[in-house]
Amino acid sequence: MAKRKRRNRYRGPDLTTHLGLEVGETLTLEAGEFDERGLATSDYKGAPVTIAGAIPGETVSASVVKVYRDRIATLVDDISTKSVYRVEPECRYFGKCSGCQWQHIDYVRQLEIKRELVIAALQPYETLRDVEVEESLPSPEQFGYRNHARFTVGRGGKSGVAGFMNADSRQFVRIDECLIMDDRINETLAQLQGRLDRMTQFSIRVGANTGDVIIQPLLPAEIQDVPSGRQQYVEEVRGAKFQVAASSFFQVNTAQLAKIIDEIAAMLELDGDDTLVDLYCGVGTFTRLLSPYARKVIGIEESASAVADARVNCADVDNVEFIEAKAELAAQELAQSGLKIDVAIIDPPRIGCHPEALEALTVLSPRRIMMVSCNPITMARDIDALCEGGFKLVSVRPVDMFPQTRHVESLALLEG
Ligand SMILES: C[S@@+](CC[C@H](N)C(=O)[O-])C[C@H]1O[C@@H](n2cnc3c(N)ncnc32)[C@H](O)[C@@H]1O
Repeated sequence: MAKRKRRNRYRGPDLTTHLGLEVGETLTLEAGEFDERGLATSDYKGAPVTIAGAIPGETVSASVVKVYRDRIATLVDDISTKSVYRVEPECRYFGKCSGCQWQHIDYVRQLEIKRELVIAALQPYETLRDVEVEESLPSPEQFGYRNHARFTVGRGGKSGVAGFMNADSRQFVRIDECLIMDDRINETLAQLQGRLDRMTQFSIRVGANTGDVIIQPLLPAEIQDVPSGRQQYVEEVRGAKFQVAASSFFQVNTAQLAKIIDEIAAMLELDGDDTLVDLYCGVGTFTRLLSPYARKVIGIEESASAVADARVNCADVDNVEFIEAKAELAAQELAQSGLKIDVAIIDPPRIGCHPEALEALTVLSPRRIMMVSCNPITMARDIDALCEGGFKLVSVRPVDMFPQTRHVESLALLEG
């Protein structure tokens, strides 16, 4: 069963109810900086406001979508002072669907904003704030790049229909084509649209370089023309095949993944003689792709199905080994074993690294660490902990894995 996302409930004072605003009311607002949701912020009679579809510096009229206790969520209707960075969103659902936050912003500016967000995340830390953050690495594709979609199925009058839920209004939006998805996802969606009665959610994943498609979960028996319910699919990156279980993580932008492998190998200056640890290795993507540049690679991952895939994915190379365990425990054991680790790559989930994993890394004391992170806030916190332990942050490079959205991926290089 799909895991329900736990929302961070606001527990502070009620900042908005006294204004008596109703959904649909129009406000005139000055758009300020983006918040962590990728929405421009503003203020209405002292209450915090977010404005979907605005750009900092713009004056807009926006309608109220939802009144939370801590903010008024609005959506742009009209713009009286336009930003020079504004472009026409390509998608007909932009605004109603909240999946992309930044289609209305010129792509070059999106890359700059991502860099600014990384700089801002480093600011609270005295040892990190002066480090040069490089320009964001653009994605090879600005649309059609996502290999993984999770759709919601509507209820009531929209039963059987696939779409997305708007994050603020919680309104269901029927989607017949999502422009950031790989074409094969949209082709599969077209085959299924309107036929999904009795389902609540489903995902479509594709191998961008293999054409392999999986749909999970199993579709109802009456949909026999679209195969579903397979347990894994295959992707190919730089000539290496990756089997990926339906439950396992895989980078969503395959073309950008291929690009960052070069970036990582160059930044780590791998000389073919190093022992490398790949913490949070998933299905062994970095392990396999960096194995030609190392003497030995040890992948560590807690998910049993991901490790099973990783073993298959690395069956053609003889210098890798996998440990199925929590990163914090396995790294401590490696540190106690006295094994010499030259280089580490760490790619944790959004919450970042367990403090004990970071402590173990300081004991292992590799020459270089590459942190791959999809959350600048936890990345900065974890880099700071590593710097407390004796490492030095050398460089940070945002890499755009998620064009048109607020999501920021970064590569951070530390030296011992
Ligand atoms: C962002 S993904 C990175 C996967 C891989 N590096 C890749 O590029 O495909 C994070 C991975 O960490 C794993 N994970 C999460 N918490 C973990 C922990 N405490 N110990 C080990 N693995 C963990 C997840 O199962 C997931 O595969």
